[in-house]
Amino acid sequence: PHAAGAFVNAANTDYTQAANRDKQRAALTACTAQLGKKWPLIINGKKITDRAYIPSVNPAKPSQIIGSWARATVADAESAVAASVAAFPKWRSTPIDDRARILERAADLMESRRLELNSLLILEAGKPWIEADGDISEAIDFCRFYAVEMRKLAKPVVTQSVPGERCVQTWTPRGVGVAIAPWNFPLAILTGLVVAPLVAGNCVIMKPAEQTSVIGAVLMDLLVESGVPAGVLHFVPGFGEDVGAHLVGHPQVDFVAFTGSRAVGCKIWETAGKTQPGQQTLKKVVCEMGGKNALVIDNDADLDEAIPAALYSAFGFSGQKCSALSRLIVLDEVYDHFIERFVSACGSYPIGDPAQPGTILGPVIDADAQKKILGIIEQGKKEAKLAFQGTAPAEGYFVPATVFVNVKPEHSIAREEIFGPVVAVLRAKNLDEAFALVNGTDYALTGGLFSRSPKALERAQNEMLVGNLYLNRACTGAIVERHPFGGFKMSGGGTKAGGKGYLENFLFPRSVAENV
Ligand code: SER
Repeated sequence: PHAAGAFVNAANTDYTQAANRDKQRAALTACTAQLGKKWPLIINGKKITDRAYIPSVNPAKPSQIIGSWARATVADAESAVAASVAAFPKWRSTPIDDRARILERAADLMESRRLELNSLLILEAGKPWIEADGDISEAIDFCRFYAVEMRKLAKPVVTQSVPGERCVQTWTPRGVGVAIAPWNFPLAILTGLVVAPLVAGNCVIMKPAEQTSVIGAVLMDLLVESGVPAGVLHFVPGFGEDVGAHLVGHPQVDFVAFTGSRAVGCKIWETAGKTQPGQQTLKKVVCEMGGKNALVIDNDADLDEAIPAALYSAFGFSGQKCSALSRLIVLDEVYDHFIERFVSACGSYPIGDPAQPGTILGPVIDADAQKKILGIIEQGKKEAKLAFQGTAPAEGYFVPATVFVNVKPEHSIAREEIFGPVVAVLRAKNLDEAFALVNGTDYALTGGLFSRSPKALERAQNEMLVGNLYLNRACTGAIVERHPFGGFKMSGGGTKAGGKGYLENFLFPRSVAENV
């Protein structure tokens, strides 16, 4: 039983039930029959159709076009900012409960259209079924969680009770923002980056990732159907270099909500920090970037638990999660035994078309990613010992699961984020050395320890400096509210998506004192 108004996580689809598998197959067939639509820009409630259209393809079958999206120009970005500035005063004073209800309607719509949305993620992002389904659950959760959290912030908080004065702290929205989202959680992260500032009373310009802009267009339609007024939210797909960069530097853009690569994140941070002529507000940047995430395997780890968790953390969705396992740091005594068992398990994951229910390793997102990851693997072969390489289908942007052992901390495969199904295994003499290796990167996103020793688990909490620490479990799959997600160092600015305190990034605090 849950208290009225409390947040509850959405339930994933149970694909062990044949009936659910049949429904998902039917949804995929229906979705496939409707592919190829043209998706216009939506600015100030108007569809803009006369732009160049960019096709989006299925990474498992690049000849299959999912749809085409209108490419926004810099002038379109300007119109979206102007419309947002005009719409802001009314949206700002719309009752918080009305705004929260819009998010709840969006969540209900996503839940009722779950299998259809899953199908689009399977086809446009190459997500295996359970990954797509988890993505939709997270999107639903973001809507419901931020609605609940915003209602709490609506109540002024008494700062100090003193006779003769009523003293409270309240919140006010920042203004106009841009949400720049990645392709790897094409519905969940995009939804989170858009609905959090919206429910807080801001106007938002949505720029989905180029590779998954059809999903972005579908989200836009869904939010409009849920009641987001024209002028408050705009759909401006385009390329980061022109439209994205223009919006980030725009003097009337008050904040940027970004998740993506380190290179782009650092550039946004820098651009937003430069005050432009005519700019009235210091820009806020919510910036989530990459990771070089490690799991430490202690000498007494339960390998029956550690091996499946490591496999899934490394190879689920082909390692294309900022939380994915990239470094396995194994203690000396158990090293050989662990490697033998881990490597022999690596071939157990089916690789292939994510439209098939059993697939765990689908394609990577596009030809550039495939080329980059295969290049890193070739470099790895020169540095360390290749212990496992799986096979991959010839058609589509596939990369085989790959494991390197005897990796040294200075090797590039131990340092650079790969964003593919590649694991580097390093040896550590003891926990001191293991924790030093964990912390010896520029990143601090996820990490974990497998150990049966309470002392070691306690040490990890103090000494493994990552934003999301996982003990005796996988290091991916954060759940909204339960595992507030985000890191620090070059992984991000320390914000926690799906956590308490996140909405405050899109608000200014105010203090009100009244002589009574
Ligand atoms: N939130 C995702 C996870 O925890 C990564 O972006 O796996």
